[in-house]
Amino acid sequence: MAAVTIRNLAKRYDDNEVMRDINLDIDDGEFVVFVGPSGCGKSTLLRMIAGLEDISAGDLNIGERRMNDVPAAKRGIAMVFQSYALYPHMTLYDNMAFGLKIAGKSKAEIDSAVQHAAKILHIDHLLDRKPRALSGGQRQRVAIGRAITRQPSVFLFDEPLSNLDAALRVKMRLEFSKLHDDLKTTMIYVTHDQIEAMTLADKIVVLSAGRIEQVGSPQELYHHPANRFVAGFIGSPKMNFIDGIVAAVSDEGVLVQLPGGARQLAAVEGGALALGDKVTLGIRPEHLHIAAGQPILHAHFTALELLGDFSYLYAASEASEEPLILRVADSIKIASGSIIGVSADAGRCHLFRQDGSAVPRLAIARDPAAAVH
Ligand SMILES: Nc1ncnc2c1ncn2[C@@H]1O[C@H](COP(=O)(O)OP(=O)(O)OP(=O)(O)O)[C@@H](O)[C@H]1O
Ligand SMILES: [Mg+2]
Repeated sequence: MAAVTIRNLAKRYDDNEVMRDINLDIDDGEFVVFVGPSGCGKSTLLRMIAGLEDISAGDLNIGERRMNDVPAAKRGIAMVFQSYALYPHMTLYDNMAFGLKIAGKSKAEIDSAVQHAAKILHIDHLLDRKPRALSGGQRQRVAIGRAITRQPSVFLFDEPLSNLDAALRVKMRLEFSKLHDDLKTTMIYVTHDQIEAMTLADKIVVLSAGRIEQVGSPQELYHHPANRFVAGFIGSPKMNFIDGIVAAVSDEGVLVQLPGGARQLAAVEGGALALGDKVTLGIRPEHLHIAAGQPILHAHFTALELLGDFSYLYAASEASEEPLILRVADSIKIASGSIIGVSADAGRCHLFRQDGSAVPRLAIARDPAAAVH
């Protein structure tokens, strides 16, 4: 087991700088998830930690040791790729034993390591099979088993579940969680899947265009995104953004004047804002309601997505470039073309300055869960 410390890390391909100013502390035994849009540098960062990419500048430490110039095989890490990369002509047993054989381990040591990993992953009855005789999920487990046998101090996973169907992903997600509980080894995991990130991570790292936007627990990122990018990236469907101007600032928060004339209070610390400042209100679909009283906006109903016990309602409004999205009860009946009024609670509103940075939410608005961190 080991902590990972990254200081001022950068990556250049020729003159093209694809990562910069990366500073990150990963504690021993922590489960850290990297998320971000395609091309933001998740795999590159993982591969630099693994030793599969050179580090252009900065420092990478695993445990006490600076690893920049240490070859991949000597870093004490094991990486599992999306493609599994199993040897097709070898049995599962041999696939899992291969690395240990190369490392010159004894037959007894190899056998004990392979059996141990196979048992953890429930593939001990399949060890004589070849990879082609396995399902995708079973193959994925062999790739993980091969990593476990190496007893690494850090596991690296690059979208390990993205080739699996939805049901299997859910099952394997739970197994990853169990695996981490059992092994208690540091794990770094890249995914595009919001639910995987939220459920597996002790700490999520949000990347964008080669930089870290925010690092925090899933709850912190959901309740206290540092900027508009993170607010829009964490949470699905994404947060609604409505532009407005500051109409008043008080102890209760900031009153925002919206297009159309209505005003919405956001329970944020607005001390540094001035009247007339341009701001953007952020409200998640689960916190935007069909107005019971005075609406903040009117919008044209456009579509309803039925998802079982709730639905997402889409509505076009001049106040927002993208359609507004509201999470509503599944029982809702609404005629196409209807105009709806929407409202929100002050305590559920986020507020962003023009440069995209978030105005801190008032303590009273903080979710009790967030206070624990
Ligand atoms: N060998 C390379 N030469 C030049 N540029 C590269 C090379 N490998 C990656 N890049 C660039 O580095 C950036 C980060 O790529 P990376 O593969 O890390 O993204 P990612 O976040 O893993 O994306 P995805 O979610 O699509 O897997 C991209 O702009 C990519 O084009
Ligand atoms: Mg990638």
